[in-house]
Amino acid sequence: MCAKVTTAIFPIAGLGTRFLPATKSIPKEILTLVDKPLIQYAVEEAREAGIRDFIFVTSRGKSSLEDFFDVNPMLEAALRKAGKTDLLNTLKSTNMDSGHIAYVRQHQALGLGHAVWCARRLVGAQPVAVILPDDLIVGRTACLKQMVEAYADTGGTMVAAMEVAPEQTSSYGILDIAEEHGALVRPRGIVEKPAKGTAPSNLAVIGRYILSPRIMVHLNRKTVGAGGEIQLTDAIAAELAADAGSVHGFRFAGERFDCGTKAGFLQATVHLALQRADLRDEFAAYLHMATTRKPGPVVLRPVTAAAG
Ligand code: UTP
Repeated sequence: MCAKVTTAIFPIAGLGTRFLPATKSIPKEILTLVDKPLIQYAVEEAREAGIRDFIFVTSRGKSSLEDFFDVNPMLEAALRKAGKTDLLNTLKSTNMDSGHIAYVRQHQALGLGHAVWCARRLVGAQPVAVILPDDLIVGRTACLKQMVEAYADTGGTMVAAMEVAPEQTSSYGILDIAEEHGALVRPRGIVEKPAKGTAPSNLAVIGRYILSPRIMVHLNRKTVGAGGEIQLTDAIAAELAADAGSVHGFRFAGERFDCGTKAGFLQATVHLALQRADLRDEFAAYLHMATTRKPGPVVLRPVTAAAG
């Protein structure tokens, strides 16, 4: 039987350049979808999957993330005194248990593989989940939970997979499919950001992984790959080459939003707002009005002066 997955790495040391100027002083992961920062959605998914230990790979300028997960005694006391129990519970849900959260610095953004490697001493010889908060996945069951359940049968290394449009394959790690059994895919290879027209399929790797300890051994070689970065995909490809049956793709059930792009972030905002009972009706009415009104200047009705 394979070891349980109870630790997750959250690589959040990237520069977030696509969201400048917002990310000049605010980490991308603190940007808010409706009323929760992106990182909180990732942490909640991990908790649902049974993760107990959280490792954040951070970089300069990300200290507001550490504050976000810390207890805020003054705010808690104020809400308690005011009897605002719901808000107090919301606030407390962002607290992390002492001793179960760790931060490790990646001094230079050398790539996702390097960011994961930075956490190697904290992970040790156990399997570890990796969650990229940019990829928001919504659905009935948390994506990582689905993967952890499938992993209990497969062991090894597992990557979340979904079909993308053929013209988008050059932006992803792409699986070369050998066999498929239900949601499980056995790849014969995996290639990071294949050049246009060379992708072996359109089944892309999305930001959820379960890594066997052997992946850290491959990352130790610090091989530089696509875009001049140390790629996690290359370490997984090396593992596949060493042991053909040790890596699985997993077609998860759920809808994924690429919150690393502005369009994806806005789509996720709209999706989540429409799910909220307190916002849905008003927001849907606004969206309808905004998407059906004719182009051109808004004509304001003249205000008639009150008599007298
Ligand atoms: P991205 O490719 O989205 O890069 O990284 P980025 O820096 O966050 O954003 P842009 O492209 O400049 O807008 C995917 C994930 O990998 C992490 C990022 O923080 C993000 O969660 N990452 C990437 C690192 O932690 N370290 C790196 O060296 C690279």
